[in-house]
Amino acid sequence: MQIDLLVTGVGECATPLGVRARGGSELGRIQVRTGCAIAIDGGRILELGPEAELLARHTPRERLDARGGLVVPGFVDAHTHPVFAGTREDEFEQRTRGATYVEIALAGGGILSSVRGVRGSSKEELLALLLVRLDRFLELGTTTVECKTGYGLALDEELKCLEVLREAQRLHPIEVVPTFLGAHDVPEEYRARKADYVKLLVEEMLPAVHAQGIAEYCDIFTESHVFGLEDSRRILTRARELGLRLRLHADQLTPLGGARLAAELGADSADHLEFVDERGIEALGAAGVVPVLCPLVPIYLRQEREAPGRRMVDAGLAPALSTDFNPGSCYLQSMHEVLVFGALRYRMSAAEALTAATLNAACSLGRGAELGTLEAGKQADLLVLDHTHHRQLVYELGRNPVRAVVKRGRVVVRREPACSNRRP
Ligand code: NIG
Ligand code: FE
Repeated sequence: MQIDLLVTGVGECATPLGVRARGGSELGRIQVRTGCAIAIDGGRILELGPEAELLARHTPRERLDARGGLVVPGFVDAHTHPVFAGTREDEFEQRTRGATYVEIALAGGGILSSVRGVRGSSKEELLALLLVRLDRFLELGTTTVECKTGYGLALDEELKCLEVLREAQRLHPIEVVPTFLGAHDVPEEYRARKADYVKLLVEEMLPAVHAQGIAEYCDIFTESHVFGLEDSRRILTRARELGLRLRLHADQLTPLGGARLAAELGADSADHLEFVDERGIEALGAAGVVPVLCPLVPIYLRQEREAPGRRMVDAGLAPALSTDFNPGSCYLQSMHEVLVFGALRYRMSAAEALTAATLNAACSLGRGAELGTLEAGKQADLLVLDHTHHRQLVYELGRNPVRAVVKRGRVVVRREPACSNRRP
């Protein structure tokens, strides 16, 4: 039978299985096979099986030779803020001298400095910047990326950022999941009257975002210096009524109870969770909310407290791992580093980190049936990596091991990593 693509020469193929987020002892239960090829047609995985058998059965229009490399599902980055203009290295330096993230934010820096950047940029400029960042994500092996707005913080500016995301979705092979984050901070002009901004969000911005029809998710920065529990509940309840799905920045800087709110509202994810407590963990577990952990963020913010990742896994939760790519609290696009730090900070095995960065992340975006594993019927999103074994996924820092990226059955990246882990 004629097929679109056959991946051959696979050293090891490592993948989680199924369509539901895996937690507890199942987090690390992946399938590892050697000598298997992958047949792809119509953008989907047709079958995985012994190479000789698949070669006998199929006539591929294109072949991708993995040359002994490791094949895994494409990474799903479930938390990023990539629609911005300008960088914030000045704040990074302030933090190294002792200033905190909240101090900088309350002094009008932080998110608000990126708001000035977005408001001063045209849609075309923002799109050009975003497309370059999406190229980078794809080269690093991220095949699906959740992208938040949140640096417009005014009706037209937020709609502009969502349009930029729609345009990027149309032009770029990467899969973009658009999230409205109008409740990221209180903009300058509303700082003295936060209640009016909450009212604007509920009465005007959310209905307009819904009518525009681009955003799939509504997110919020639930933290007492921005949106407290009551404001968050009001905003998210309205979003949910309008049919948007929910995710929250929860318990990141203080133990406010954002995790419990995420559970109460049936959010798809609760993100960060550095300060989550036992009740929060229990609530997330009972409600089936995916904790999206961003292990590089506390390091970047010089915050000592880290999310109790291991505790969550042991309590049966099914975490995802993500970059939180943004110009303030984590200027990083590489999921490779995230896997390594997931292992180091949360004592995750390579298999656990892989599940967290693929299947669980896909489930946190409502895409578990389509993405996140290498199984017949799923969308064909996969990576060929210059690794000999999946344990190297959490071992090596500072090099992009991606050799090839397949998105929806098409080879969209082919590159030669600078040096190889494989013996000659
Ligand atoms: O996830 N916590 C809120 N939002 C981002 C930071 C955004 C920024 O500083 O620009 C985060 O850490
Ligand atoms: Fe974030």
